[in-house]
Amino acid sequence: MDFCSNDYLGFARSAKLRDAIDQELADRPTVLNGSTGSRLLAGNTDYAEKLEAEIAGVHGYEAGLIYNSGYDTNLGLFSSLPQKGDTIITDELVHASIIDGCRLSHAERFRFKHNDINSLEDKLQRAKGNIYIAIESIYSMDGDVAPLIAIAAIAEKYKAHLIVDEAHATGVFGYGLVHQLGLQGKVFAQVVTFGKALGCHGAIVLGSNLLRDYLINFSRSFIYTTAAPFHQLASVKMAYRLLQQNDMHARLLHHHINYFKANFTNKYYRLIPSDSSIQCIIMGSNDKAKALAGLLQSGGFDVRPILSPTVAAGSERVRICIHSYNTELEIAGLLAIINTFTA
Ligand SMILES: Cc1ncc(COP(=O)(O)O)c(C=O)c1O
Repeated sequence: MDFCSNDYLGFARSAKLRDAIDQELADRPTVLNGSTGSRLLAGNTDYAEKLEAEIAGVHGYEAGLIYNSGYDTNLGLFSSLPQKGDTIITDELVHASIIDGCRLSHAERFRFKHNDINSLEDKLQRAKGNIYIAIESIYSMDGDVAPLIAIAAIAEKYKAHLIVDEAHATGVFGYGLVHQLGLQGKVFAQVVTFGKALGCHGAIVLGSNLLRDYLINFSRSFIYTTAAPFHQLASVKMAYRLLQQNDMHARLLHHHINYFKANFTNKYYRLIPSDSSIQCIIMGSNDKAKALAGLLQSGGFDVRPILSPTVAAGSERVRICIHSYNTELEIAGLLAIINTFTA
């Protein structure tokens, strides 16, 4: 029983999505299997450009640029945009792809305490040059939400460029939290990945036409790689169509998330507050995290312990991902083990 994958809405296993992708391929019998080159050389297509414009429009942005993965996107964005003399301020829990992008940049990097506005303001007061703030809307290891409205306001106050990674929010919360909160005007750039709730592969940067043009010319993980093949682009296009058609999968998902939270009664261990698919039980040591995960795994539940040093010592956890296709019976079985775990 899957309580581990990022397939939050079941799109990766959707027969309806597979049929739609097959049809899109069948409608274009002459498309190539591979893209044959970088987007700057032989690998560009009208299809890719139209898809970028379509996705940007759906999210309320002027333009979009598709990368081969979310990792490539953050690497290419953060390594190319901030220059020497600029400052990047990241939440301390941002994804490794953002950190690696920052490492390749010549800008200074500060970290602020997770979701802490005062800590962010402290760093903003010390920042020089063009300032970039990097956050996730839903954090990948904690599942909690960023205080987006407050961060957008403080970014505006200090004329900082806010960049939001929506990897774990897209699809789970409509087109993501920036869209739901109508913050597009205050969020300079957004990263949406296709490998999680959308069930495909790849990612897009959303922003202005100027940003798109800049990245095409300077973002090395976009330039120096073979472009996504047609099949990948068609999958993304059809996944967006499925997302637009109805919100049944998301409603089911949130029903299951609420059911899990309402019936979690373990008195010895706590859940990190989260309304997202990602629910974490803080175990406090690697041994305890491994013990509970092992017990769940032997009961047929695919869950993983997240150990230190991947997370800070003392915050070792069992990370549970809830999906639209999990059943209440499965979740009840999972909780029966969790709620009686006292070791
Ligand atoms: C917040 C965040 N950003 C980016 C990525 C990378 O996306 P991808 O798996 O498409 O490379 C991930 C994946 O784990 C993620 O959690």
